[in-house]
Amino acid sequence: MSNRFDVITIFPEYFSPLDLSLIGKAKKAGLISVGIHDLRTQTSDVHGSVDDTPYGGGAGMVMSPEPWGKAIDVVASEFPDLTHELIVLTPAGKKLTQELAEELVSSDHLIFACGRYEGIDIRVTDYYKSQPNFKVREISIGDYVLGGGEVATLVIMEAIIRLIPGVIGNPDSLSEESHSIVGDDGSLVEYPNYTKPQEWRGLKVPDVLLSGNHGEIAKWRLAQAQIRTKNLNS
Ligand code: 6GU
Repeated sequence: MSNRFDVITIFPEYFSPLDLSLIGKAKKAGLISVGIHDLRTQTSDVHGSVDDTPYGGGAGMVMSPEPWGKAIDVVASEFPDLTHELIVLTPAGKKLTQELAEELVSSDHLIFACGRYEGIDIRVTDYYKSQPNFKVREISIGDYVLGGGEVATLVIMEAIIRLIPGVIGNPDSLSEESHSIVGDDGSLVEYPNYTKPQEWRGLKVPDVLLSGNHGEIAKWRLAQAQIRTKNLNS
């Protein structure tokens, strides 16, 4: 089960939200621990350069392999007994899904490499793929381009950490939510929810939800989830 998360970035300040809400509580409760590492501490020149022009020409800059190699080695050496899962954030990666989050929650040590600019020299990925104590994955959070991997890392961490036992107070909410409800036709999004009052701005809570008939309620919710899922895909 993942309980150690390390993030390597040139913007450590991006990760202050990790002290809030669900993840903040999980940290305080000792369910997870997180290290945030500034890539620039691994640079050797006075300017703290982390990028350079691309071989072959073209627009933009590419992140240099040397600081990345040093930073990843330092983080891995703190946990010599673990297999490290290196997550390289890139729009060219495999798309994050609930299924992928469920797979990642079982790794012991996740290291997130937040690239900026046109990405990280591919030899960093290639090198760690060849290391027996590493598993490497390139992950994207969707078909659009962000300025860097920091926000994507926050998204992925939140998707994983809420699956760790004890992080969410009522674990039933995990099995009833979007993408966990599976009908005959695959994964469904969640049914619509209502709370008090029974009438708000003229809009009423459907009678079936007030009926106390759990069979009918379950049927209604499944039908609603199917309608919503169908509408999303049309
Ligand atoms: Cl992981 N990085 C960047 N830069 N852009 C993205 C992304 C990642 N996922 C979607 N767009």
